[in-house]
Amino acid sequence: MDDARDRTGWGILATGRIARTFARDLALAPDARLAAVGSRRAESAERFAAAYAADTGAATPTAHASYEALVADPAVDVVYVATPHALHLDHARLAFEAGKHVLCEKPLTLDVAAAEEMVRLARHHGRFLMEAMWTACHPAVLALRQRLAAGDLGTARHLHAELGFRVDAPPEDRLLDPSLGASALLDMGIYPLTFAHLLLGPAERLQASADLSPGGIDLDIAISGRYAGGALATMTASMTSWSSRRAAIATDLGRVDVEDFHHPTRTTFTPYATGGTNDSVDRAVPLDIEPVEPVLGQGYAHEVVEVQRCLRAGLLESPMVPHDQTLTLLRQMDDLRAQVGVTFPA
Ligand SMILES: NC(=O)c1ccc[n+]([C@@H]2O[C@H](COP(=O)([O-])OP(=O)(O)OC[C@H]3O[C@@H](n4cnc5c(N)ncnc54)[C@H](OP(=O)(O)O)[C@@H]3O)[C@@H](O)[C@H]2O)c1
Repeated sequence: MDDARDRTGWGILATGRIARTFARDLALAPDARLAAVGSRRAESAERFAAAYAADTGAATPTAHASYEALVADPAVDVVYVATPHALHLDHARLAFEAGKHVLCEKPLTLDVAAAEEMVRLARHHGRFLMEAMWTACHPAVLALRQRLAAGDLGTARHLHAELGFRVDAPPEDRLLDPSLGASALLDMGIYPLTFAHLLLGPAERLQASADLSPGGIDLDIAISGRYAGGALATMTASMTSWSSRRAAIATDLGRVDVEDFHHPTRTTFTPYATGGTNDSVDRAVPLDIEPVEPVLGQGYAHEVVEVQRCLRAGLLESPMVPHDQTLTLLRQMDDLRAQVGVTFPA
């Protein structure tokens, strides 16, 4: 910890798109301090550090010209790994060997074998590890989980969730480069799968159809799943189209609608009108489901808060994003990739 001010010292490893977004939210998290940033290039680290200070008004973090220098910085307690997924294991290993805790971007790795190795390394070094699955830490998702578990929204029978973005990027961009783990499933499909897992429990069976690029990347994928008690889910992910980013859950008592389900901006429950029929929409009034606490920034700050809470409690994994959950999701994605014939270069 940062003794002087009792704040957790964070180090950001890589200066790409999500690193910039994450940093802005980190500045909003109580007791967090961005101590340092590391990049493969000095100018990039310096630019990132200066922009962070200008955007947030916080102190300028130290800019390191290598990832090795970042993890060696004594002001850094936790390293946030924000490189492409194919590189996460190498960079988490670097951090653990330097004695740092790790918050690692999603998906943790390309496959479950590599993720198991990351978990093994964390345990071997006695360090905290959490996948940066911000959806699982989001106050609106926590509220929805609580309300469903309490039974006051009825029993979930069907879940639908879709997440798609049009990727307009050059072929060497990590989103399209198979050697860096390009895949609609790994980049976007992980969200509907995680959302279903959080609300319905582990899947009993999952089936996928996909449309692949000439180079063998899954650009679009549709998944159907069966969960405990016979609940069914349909989930899509896309790198070619602008989807609604909505989720809906149909229960025997009504319907839950979630806008931007991977970081919900509005969640409502519309009860099946008492004494009505399926068509009596005029009497069906959507009721807002409020987050368990106010949402900070874009929603990333809550994963920062969760990491810090765990560290203070002496935990090496988070009950909100346990290792077993991350591994289960990666096992599911391994299976789905095999079904649609997507492999990554060795
Ligand atoms: N949680 C979320 O909402 C969210 C959103 C987007 C992405 N992500 C995840 O975050 C990770 C990074 O995604 P991103 O969109 O930020 O990627 P990006 O913009 O391409 O940035 C990746 C960064 O990784 C570093 N890097 C190191 N080796 C690299 C290599 N061989 N090729 C390319 N970059 C390399 C670079 O930083 P330096 O040049 O500074 O070394 C680069 O800027 C992915 O795992 C992705 O799934 C999460």
